[in-house]
Amino acid sequence: MVEPSGADLYLNLIAKVLARYGFEGRNATVKLAARSYPDYLWSMLRGALPDRDVRIVEAGEFNAALREDGRDWPADAETMIGMRRLANLRHCVESALDENVPGDFIETGAWRGGATIFMRAILKARGVTDRTVWVADSFEGLPEHDGRYDADLGDLHHTQPDLAISLEEVQENFRRYDLLDDQVRFLVGWFVDTLPTAPIERLAVLRLDGDMYASTMDALNALYDKVSPGGFVIVDDFGAVPACAKAIHEFRDEHGITAPLEPIDWAGVFWRKPS
Ligand SMILES: C[S@@+](CC[C@H](N)C(=O)[O-])C[C@H]1O[C@@H](n2cnc3c(N)ncnc32)[C@H](O)[C@@H]1O
Repeated sequence: MVEPSGADLYLNLIAKVLARYGFEGRNATVKLAARSYPDYLWSMLRGALPDRDVRIVEAGEFNAALREDGRDWPADAETMIGMRRLANLRHCVESALDENVPGDFIETGAWRGGATIFMRAILKARGVTDRTVWVADSFEGLPEHDGRYDADLGDLHHTQPDLAISLEEVQENFRRYDLLDDQVRFLVGWFVDTLPTAPIERLAVLRLDGDMYASTMDALNALYDKVSPGGFVIVDDFGAVPACAKAIHEFRDEHGITAPLEPIDWAGVFWRKPS
């Protein structure tokens, strides 16, 4: 059996903290015991942290299966995408690094920042210093339907205060994991305004998590051409939000993209731009 490396252990554990507990989800005992981040991870390994997280939408008992699949909105954890989509993100980022696919990494729609924190952690674990993680968000939730795309008519995401996480809070989340530095850059505002002029040269991974048709289409229109050959496009909401799936199908049809859409779990899909 191949022993996991230190980087593997670090990334497996950080994924679990980001998806399941969140840095604030520590109980008081662990808080006192954990003077450093490795200590905290060690406490988790020993099972010192309880499954105390509850859903914030339909408050209820913590359900590990829902969390694993990214089907709930965590009370404490920094990402809602679940372990399988985090594993896919790791696969895409590490494949891009292993195969020298040029470019940076971006998530359009970061919420508390967990998926982007994970990308920065992978770069750190691998000692990569010449790539940036871009964090694009309004930091005030989703936009109202702006009349451009009928597919978003009646969309109610903008009424969800739980989806509005401030820039300061996201930056603080990065800081807690000791991962806020100049390899992380924030694009603050609506995608339709920020992404077309973002100072990004090339992307190795484009992760779309804006839920709506417009949010998905605005990101693809602004960024798809910057994805390097061999780079990855990940769509978080394909199976969860029909309007998002519609945007993906229409963009791919319009641009003649035939690379297969690979399922990740019940919601996420990804494809690889041909080399
Ligand atoms: C479902 S959450 C993202 C979840 C996150 N990726 C995670 O790891 O948990 C959707 C995010 O997209 C942002 N968003 C959606 N549409 C947007 C738009 N058009 N412009 C800016 N931000 C947008 C929202 O503010 C919200 O933070």
